[in-house]
Amino acid sequence: MCGIVGYIGERKAQDILLKGLKRLEYRGYDSAGVAVLNRHKISIVKRQGKLSVLSTELSGRPLAGTLGIGHTRWATHGAPSHKNAHPHRDCKGKIAVVHNGIIENYLELKKNLKKKGHKFLSETDTEILSHLVEEHYKGNLEEAVRRTVKMVKGSYAIAVIHEDEPYRIVGARCDSPLIVGLGKGENFLASDVPAILDYTHDVIYLDNHDIVTLTRGGVSVKDLSGRNMRKSPSRIKWDISQAEKAGYKHFMLKEIFEQGDVLRNMLEERIDKGRVVFNELEIPSKVFRSLKNIMIVACGTAYHAGLTGKYIIEECARIPCHVDTSSEFRYRDPVLDKNTLVVIVSQSGETADSLAALREAKRRGCKTLGICNVLGSSIAREADGVIYTHAGPEIAVASTKAYTAQLAIFYLIAIYLASLRKALTASGITSLIKEFGKCALLMNELLGEYKSEYNALAAYAQEFKRYYHAKHNKSYFLYLARNINYPNALEGALKLKEISYISAEGYPAGEMKHGPIALIDENPWVVCIATQAKTHDKMLSNMQEIKARGGIVIAMVTEGDKEIMHHNVNYVIEIPPVRELFSPLLTVIPLQLLAYYVALEFGYDIDQPRNLAKSVTVE
Ligand code: M6R
Repeated sequence: MCGIVGYIGERKAQDILLKGLKRLEYRGYDSAGVAVLNRHKISIVKRQGKLSVLSTELSGRPLAGTLGIGHTRWATHGAPSHKNAHPHRDCKGKIAVVHNGIIENYLELKKNLKKKGHKFLSETDTEILSHLVEEHYKGNLEEAVRRTVKMVKGSYAIAVIHEDEPYRIVGARCDSPLIVGLGKGENFLASDVPAILDYTHDVIYLDNHDIVTLTRGGVSVKDLSGRNMRKSPSRIKWDISQAEKAGYKHFMLKEIFEQGDVLRNMLEERIDKGRVVFNELEIPSKVFRSLKNIMIVACGTAYHAGLTGKYIIEECARIPCHVDTSSEFRYRDPVLDKNTLVVIVSQSGETADSLAALREAKRRGCKTLGICNVLGSSIAREADGVIYTHAGPEIAVASTKAYTAQLAIFYLIAIYLASLRKALTASGITSLIKEFGKCALLMNELLGEYKSEYNALAAYAQEFKRYYHAKHNKSYFLYLARNINYPNALEGALKLKEISYISAEGYPAGEMKHGPIALIDENPWVVCIATQAKTHDKMLSNMQEIKARGGIVIAMVTEGDKEIMHHNVNYVIEIPPVRELFSPLLTVIPLQLLAYYVALEFGYDIDQPRNLAKSVTVE
């Protein structure tokens, strides 16, 4: 939610800021701006709309200067507009501030600042920061920022520059990510690693309440009382090419097609001599041996992975699991104790509600485990233990490869627990590991079928668009499944609605008769996941009931399913045969692609859907 970049060095700041913002655009894209300091003068250019609008503006009148800060916004306080775009200035126009987060006590602070004569130009919470820094500035920007952040409540990652100190950028963070990139004769500040990977792989992950000062020659980090903090840099192992489209039309498509490799790499990394290994996990195995239940907490797609995780862990390791969305968990009074393991699933590791849920679980004395993709993220650092999904950077707002990586980690956790707690025999464990390995191959095989631009799912999407218009835009999607594939029905619906803005709901198919069947007429397209032998007949009945009421049925079945031919469904999607427990790894692929092709047909901005941002760092 909002991306920040800062640069100080010898190169043209504008170019580095724009390139960095481009890589952070997934964090917000309703307006963007830069402030560049040159000869004791700060110039600010900002524009409503995507970064490309700002880039076009700046290409016509580039800003000179080798120090600057930039921002790409996802609006919280104040509509997306030119006046609300960052950077924000103080009254004298000597200070510029960019901010990610929410200042919760901004109204009270604004009132006091107004009484002192400060004039505000925007509706944002951020603008109080530039005025507070102005108020506290007595010739030392770092000190003024320290005094400012001591007054604010809420979350922030900020970067601040001042015309009177044209040799430094000051940053600070609390509950919003901020990293420092270490260069030679230049240094960088950013919300996330991709922004700086063109220039350096050495980063410092800032902690809450750190105040950082960047000059060309160095970086110093202090705490809120001004004490120097020692920070060891981390080396980023992945390359910037991983954060590029590599010839694909969209990041989402590229990330969908990367899923087979993600699974294969996971197998290579996590299976050793027939055992599951989690090298980075700092929770002792005795904790896993003695735990009585598991609480999985997450948001959005990660929540759907958690729902599937429950089926997997309960079936393999026989440990009771509960699953909750982070925003609900944190405000209820869950029954937890020291024998509960709370598992927080988060691609970004920065989702505000998930981070708050983690802290709540810790406060209640539970052991906590993060399943995260982003290295060094807040959840990864604050949890008692972390297991990384290592799916590589996920740039598209709609999560795909992070989801299958989270599912895969749940299979591994379940196998790990089953083996530690002797819930399965040695041969049972071996056969699960073997089947898991097979899945990586089958996933690549399945993806191979959709490699051509003119594949069956693309054709179904075209048909849907025609139908949608013929039905005067009243068509929509339902996703039905049972048992372990039910969370994928939710995920398929989420994917479709977030990138194509078409109404879509996921239901456990058995619930249809308890209400949702009332919706069925000739408008909905109903995707029915019927790959599991155990519930196959029941799913066929569901399809009949939908067809009888005029609905359009897309049946997802296992290759070789002959029965489906007798059921007069409209479209069929086949997945390779795999043990039922592992089927969610495969059934989700066509759902992701179908969502992608529908959005493509309708001509929407697939990687940056409206109103969304990749990591939701505010409540
Ligand atoms: O970074 P996180 O996994 O914590 O993010 C959780 C959700 O915000 C995220 O999965 C969201 O639902 C995606 N846009 C779905 O595609």
